[in-house]
Amino acid sequence: MGNQEDQIKAFVKEELEIFGGPLYMPEAIQEAAEEKTQLSSEIKSLSDFNDAIQNCMNCPLGKTRTSFVFGAGNPDADLMFVGEAPGEKEDLEGVPFVGRAGKLLDDILKAIELSREDVFIANVLKCRPPDNRDPNKDEIEQCEPYLLKQIELIKPKLLVALGRISATTLLRTKDSLTAMRGQVFDYHGTDMVVTYHPAALLRNPNWKRPAWEDFKKIRAMYKEKRGESA
Ligand code: URA
Repeated sequence: MGNQEDQIKAFVKEELEIFGGPLYMPEAIQEAAEEKTQLSSEIKSLSDFNDAIQNCMNCPLGKTRTSFVFGAGNPDADLMFVGEAPGEKEDLEGVPFVGRAGKLLDDILKAIELSREDVFIANVLKCRPPDNRDPNKDEIEQCEPYLLKQIELIKPKLLVALGRISATTLLRTKDSLTAMRGQVFDYHGTDMVVTYHPAALLRNPNWKRPAWEDFKKIRAMYKEKRGESA
């Protein structure tokens, strides 16, 4: 048996055969095994990936969450939205964007003739930060690889970062939303545009007009990338 990964797999298999259930594993081996499973190149489907990371305890949010909010929508979507983190309702239901902001996102999607079934919706963080505070550095470090793996599996043609926090986190910038809107960024090889977070539009309805301009462009880019006429 050549490498560490094979050894871990053989160990896990043997333990499963013997005990048929929960395993006893020295902590270091268990951690290594989990790490390998979660981002393993052997995971080829989104639902397998969801199963593999559902019980993530990589950061302290694992202890405070009600649900791990993987994301929802079409596993083959060409358009993928990335919000900040689950809020209270999302944490309770395990589904992203189901609160008031989510209802607005549904309406916006409808206005550009799309639905949740056409797109994939995820967040930078999969677990709710207490009191909806901003994601911290450790949480982002632990969670962003999950987003990258989701993108690898879904292969969207266009990413839309919803809101300043999502965009500045992913693009490692301190730019304002105004500066980022209208630009096309490269996020690990996939085109990414930035627009308002729907919750911000609820707080400030004056932003609905420029947001609508953004979404018309998003729709045009999406159609173009799919080779469809506008
Ligand atoms: N806000 C987000 O950024 N994501 C959600 O899932 C809900 C609200």
